Amino acid sequence: MKQYDNVTIFDHPLISHKVAILRDEKTSMKEFRELVEEITTLMTFEALRCGVPTEERQVKTPLEVCTQTVVKDNAIVIVPILRAGLGMVNGIHTLFPSARVGHIGMCRNEETLEPEEYYCKLPPHIEDKLVMVIDPMLATGGSACDAIKRLKERGCRHIKFMAIIGAPEGVTRVAEAHPDVHIYVSTLDRCLNDKGYILPGLGDAGDRLFGTK
Ligand code: PRP
Ligand code: URA
Repeated sequence: MKQYDNVTIFDHPLISHKVAILRDEKTSMKEFRELVEEITTLMTFEALRCGVPTEERQVKTPLEVCTQTVVKDNAIVIVPILRAGLGMVNGIHTLFPSARVGHIGMCRNEETLEPEEYYCKLPPHIEDKLVMVIDPMLATGGSACDAIKRLKERGCRHIKFMAIIGAPEGVTRVAEAHPDVHIYVSTLDRCLNDKGYILPGLGDAGDRLFGTK
């Protein structure tokens, strides 16, 4: 795959270890859910190294007053792409418990593989925030591209997209369609199969999170 300035592929042994368990078909729904959250927290830690709105705050320690950089209140909005993105929300809330959550419902048409939007509810003043769009799977990239387009139509200018597993096709599509959006993918997989599933992948993330078929 071509290299893009707006794409970060994590090559971290701790994340890789957890992704190995996530992929395993024998991993239970409970463990799958916990792993999705843990991986999301690890990714968020790195993804927010830059681009997060900060300010200087005075803190009085037992010894003296110092100035410390803090994340601005209310600076981040989490936008999961339904359904599977829901599984990642707590992973960010662990770090930013007060972050508001907007929801965008997208379902891939199984024949065309194109996403169809069925729901959109976003918090007020989202245009000023750092918006973290999350979905465990970046396959053809259609869902991510449309969700980001929708957010831009609402005036959002600071968007990051995070997926646990990406296919080269999807990463390329989003990186080229939205060069101003930084894309974080924990693991880059080989390709898509003829049904649009990521190989080797982990199967259907929504089904594995919620116990559906
Ligand atoms: C899955 C996944 C992504 C999308 C990725 O959702 O969670 O949203 O497919 O595929 P794409 O990159 O080709 O658009 P799905 O449409 O299966 O809905 P679900 O989360 O409700 O299962
Ligand atoms: N959505 C999934 O849940 N898994 C894939 O492999 C592709 C899209």
